[in-house]
Amino acid sequence: MNTSSLPRIAVLATGGTIAGQAGDASKTAGYKAGVVGVDKLLDAVPALDSVARIHAEQIASIDSKDMSAALWTALATRIDELLAQGDIDGVVVTHGTDTLEETAYLLHLTVKSAKPVVLTAAMRPSTALSADGPLNLLNAVTVAASKDAAGKGVLVAFNNQIHSARDVTKTSTYAVDAFRSPETGVLGFVQDGRVEFQRTVVRPHTVASEFSVSSQWPMVEIVASYADVSRVAVDALVAAGVRGIVVAGTGNGSMHAALMQALADAVSHGVAVVRASRVGSGHVMRNGAANDDALGSVSAGTLNPYKARVLLMLALASGVEDLQRVFDVY
Ligand code: SIN
Repeated sequence: MNTSSLPRIAVLATGGTIAGQAGDASKTAGYKAGVVGVDKLLDAVPALDSVARIHAEQIASIDSKDMSAALWTALATRIDELLAQGDIDGVVVTHGTDTLEETAYLLHLTVKSAKPVVLTAAMRPSTALSADGPLNLLNAVTVAASKDAAGKGVLVAFNNQIHSARDVTKTSTYAVDAFRSPETGVLGFVQDGRVEFQRTVVRPHTVASEFSVSSQWPMVEIVASYADVSRVAVDALVAAGVRGIVVAGTGNGSMHAALMQALADAVSHGVAVVRASRVGSGHVMRNGAANDDALGSVSAGTLNPYKARVLLMLALASGVEDLQRVFDVY
């Protein structure tokens, strides 16, 4: 086979369970994430040779629970550099599942290229019986090598499904079909070399996004509302100089009266407050379960609290004044 005509895909490894290692092949929980190098991950998938020419880089070797804003900046910057090269047709990022949805949305809003960027991961370590990483990696490269994937923003290829970075979320602590796009469903599927999209992505992203990664990330934190919650966490955050707070509210972004009073006080100190929901699907309507006009808050719409935090960080870093506009648009 003449492979010189195959697309050239950069695989950037950051760690995660896909690069995890256990002492016993029967173990799918007791293992160390982010220890197996990218070359070994690629060697486990000989079928890649007939899909793409691979350029591999080890960007990090972490458990994604330890993802940092500094690593986001490094990753997004490297992706932009690679995609600006004429000889790179797409990028695959291998990542842990735990914060994959946050990194994916961050990249969706900051990468400055229409070429495909596809994140993938695994629920079982590379040493496990029935490890899911090798097929997920093959499928992610297959999607990144597909012309149909261009212009759709950052994608997540996982368990034969293709999700939009904006919509996808992890929904299981152990199952190999751990990812869902609750309000919107999958974008398409990838199976046996075939990539098929069933819907498109309508909100702006990548080249149409007004955001760029920052080297100066504002402090933005998440607090939750629950029975008998106190105002202690909000007051401590305000005292620590927080710039923004996302509240993971009950139901349609409602919150305990004590938390609401603390957040009203935070707003009066210049802190941006965004109302999201802890429910896991649905949307938070402006002036619905709480009066945003009176509180001075913003509703997160269909973004979960973790993605709302990503957008709020980007918006504050770029000096956006009308925060509700960006939550309505992105
Ligand atoms: C991680 O997020 O790095 C560990 C868990 C996983 O990848 O499933």
